[in-house]
Amino acid sequence: MRVINTIQDLKTCLSEARKAGKSIGLVPTMGALHEGHASLVRRSVRENDITVVSIFLNPTQFNDPKDLERYPRTLEADSRLLEQCGAQVAFAPSVKEIYPEPDTRHFSYPPTDSVMEGERRPGHFNGVCQIVSKLFMMVEPTRAYFGEKDFQQICVIRRMADDLGFRLEIVPCPVVREESGLAMSSRNTLLTADEKVLAANIYRVMKESLSKGLSVRETEAWVVNELNSIDGLEVEYYSIVDGDTLASVNDWNDAPHIVGCITVYCGATPIRLIDHIRYK
Ligand code: PAF
Repeated sequence: MRVINTIQDLKTCLSEARKAGKSIGLVPTMGALHEGHASLVRRSVRENDITVVSIFLNPTQFNDPKDLERYPRTLEADSRLLEQCGAQVAFAPSVKEIYPEPDTRHFSYPPTDSVMEGERRPGHFNGVCQIVSKLFMMVEPTRAYFGEKDFQQICVIRRMADDLGFRLEIVPCPVVREESGLAMSSRNTLLTADEKVLAANIYRVMKESLSKGLSVRETEAWVVNELNSIDGLEVEYYSIVDGDTLASVNDWNDAPHIVGCITVYCGATPIRLIDHIRYK
């Protein structure tokens, strides 16, 4: 596996592959890789001739500097995992390389980027669109792989890719869960063992809500109450939305796909965890 740090080297390496008619899979990451990322990389390796994994902790998508500061950084372990998964290129540029000048582009794709995380983390999805659009331009991938754990992010990226006319396939990949049901996330390394046990309730409760037979609003309220009654958990929001547009729904018949999206604060620090579940 080649580790590349500059855009110039990346382009040189990929232009040869492109000339030879090879397909290129891109897996964008911010490092601190876990089994969830590994599943994306393995899938890209299966489906493409060349897999590029970007490792870039993108500052423009962090609206809270403390969150950026405590984000785990594990470059050596990340490289080992990528080797094992069979990736050909790890692209690990510096912030200066990606943003030689501040990125002043503004992206807006409501309601996908204005509800839920968009409402609570101003500028977050703008930063995601900035980095992902740059990566798409640099790598020109045939396919790009994103984990469905960040369900809202995929909806925003789809809109951005359509808007800017990128000719690539966006491949959403299912959430990888611990045995307990906890969705794998780089942020889980910040949880203590006890907090991980607590956090497993998030998926358990959402799953239980599937069979309650309640209305949309009653289901939202039930999930919030169940989780808030557990010491150490505090729900920021639970929104049941159209799974394609993320517009809010009032009735189970309002959209062909319906998804519940949740954000919960867990533990003493506390750590902000997100997850989702499909109702249909
Ligand atoms: O999901 C992530 O890890 C990031 O938001 C992404 C897509 C790599 C952009 O920085």
